[in-house]
Amino acid sequence: MQANGYEPLLDEGEKLSRKDLTALQLDRLKWSLRHVYEKSTHYKEAFHAANVRPDDLRSLSDLANFPFTVKDDLRRAYPFNFFCVPMDQVQRIHASSGTTGKQTVVGYTKKDIETWSSVVARSIRAAGGRPGMKVHVAYGYGLFTGGLGAHYGAEHLGCTVIPMSGGQTEKQVQLIEDFKPEIIMVTPSYMLAILDEFKRQGIDPRRSPLKIGIFGAEPWTEAMRKEIEEAFAIEAVDIYGLSEVIGPGVANECVETKDGLTIWEDHFYPEVIDPETGRVLPEGELGELVITSLTKEAMPIIRYRTRDLTRLLPGTARTMRRMEKISTRCDDMLIIRGVNVFPTQFEEQILKVSTLSPHYVLEVTRPDRMDQIKVIVEHRDGVSNEALKEARNSLKHHIKTMIGISTAIDIVAPGGVDRSSGKAQRIKDLR
Ligand code: DLL
Repeated sequence: MQANGYEPLLDEGEKLSRKDLTALQLDRLKWSLRHVYEKSTHYKEAFHAANVRPDDLRSLSDLANFPFTVKDDLRRAYPFNFFCVPMDQVQRIHASSGTTGKQTVVGYTKKDIETWSSVVARSIRAAGGRPGMKVHVAYGYGLFTGGLGAHYGAEHLGCTVIPMSGGQTEKQVQLIEDFKPEIIMVTPSYMLAILDEFKRQGIDPRRSPLKIGIFGAEPWTEAMRKEIEEAFAIEAVDIYGLSEVIGPGVANECVETKDGLTIWEDHFYPEVIDPETGRVLPEGELGELVITSLTKEAMPIIRYRTRDLTRLLPGTARTMRRMEKISTRCDDMLIIRGVNVFPTQFEEQILKVSTLSPHYVLEVTRPDRMDQIKVIVEHRDGVSNEALKEARNSLKHHIKTMIGISTAIDIVAPGGVDRSSGKAQRIKDLR
């Protein structure tokens, strides 16, 4: 029994020794390389251009000689040219929204859906979920992988699923109160909107039936974890994934340690690279996460550059390795007067000020060719003018000392920052 009372329940894959896991990864990786080489024009050409063949891989580290795959490769293949099986074997399609250009389309065979469901089931189990529990899914349903990914995983585990999807915040609260789910799966930012709604309806969120929250699809900080755990009296656990690789369930935190996300390495092979040079970095160094699928049939992916920044860490709760909680995407990194900054750094500083709420947005402008950031943040209920002045000064000070830049601060009334029912948009770029 662990300190917080959670007894882990493992499946066969999670019980593998490091040695057996490595052997399995090598076998599966060889299969994946051959599969894409034989079935995909893109990969055949890319391998030829890099002068590698599937047989050149003898050990896992040889993967470093194979070419990367980037989002543009998938866009060019729109809609179905990345698929490695005939269309009549594709059971499901999803697509990632993306802020610019065409959607990225992904496909799954029947077996891929089973694999995906099993890694999401494993993720829910790692978070403390057990068969027989009720899972309220508030990730969006549709082309986004969040809703249906969570749904199939929860069913696979033997849970009762409440497929609420995102939005209709009032109804979210009503269903949580009436159906009494023990687990909620939702973006952390939308969980805050649900929290506001509990308060608006005069219901104490700490008395809700929820015991576990499985939050992901966007970066969130330890400060946010504390905020949500205390507000609802739940365990808040991080889930990671991306459509191009499978959807949610690539990695998940184990509730007994909450020390970063265990990567489900029997299905996904991780590397961390220097985003500038593409060189593979040693364990522990911060860089861009690159993932290779090991078992996917319809749309295997080789060395996909996720644009997410993290570091690989040795396993703790499982033999599989962990990745540090993702602090940012390369794309969300702003360079303000020479300093690299990203939204979660501001989130940490905001939550140090007790009168400020976690609802914020960063407005970036470029007057006189100099980038400037304004932090627009809501204050909490019932704060005096005097306390607001204090809050502004102390946030400005924290940001200056911890992040190293001067910012304008605009404290607005509760409800003054737009809510999103899915991924929060933290940067408003007006440049
Ligand atoms: O967001 C899949 C997902 C759904 C994951 C539900 C977790 C829960 P995409 O829409 O393709 O897929 O977006 C993937 O979201 O590259 C990260 O930048 C970000 N992201 C996902 N999970 C996390 C997380 C889904 N736990 C992109 N922490 C990824 C930080 C995350 N960022």
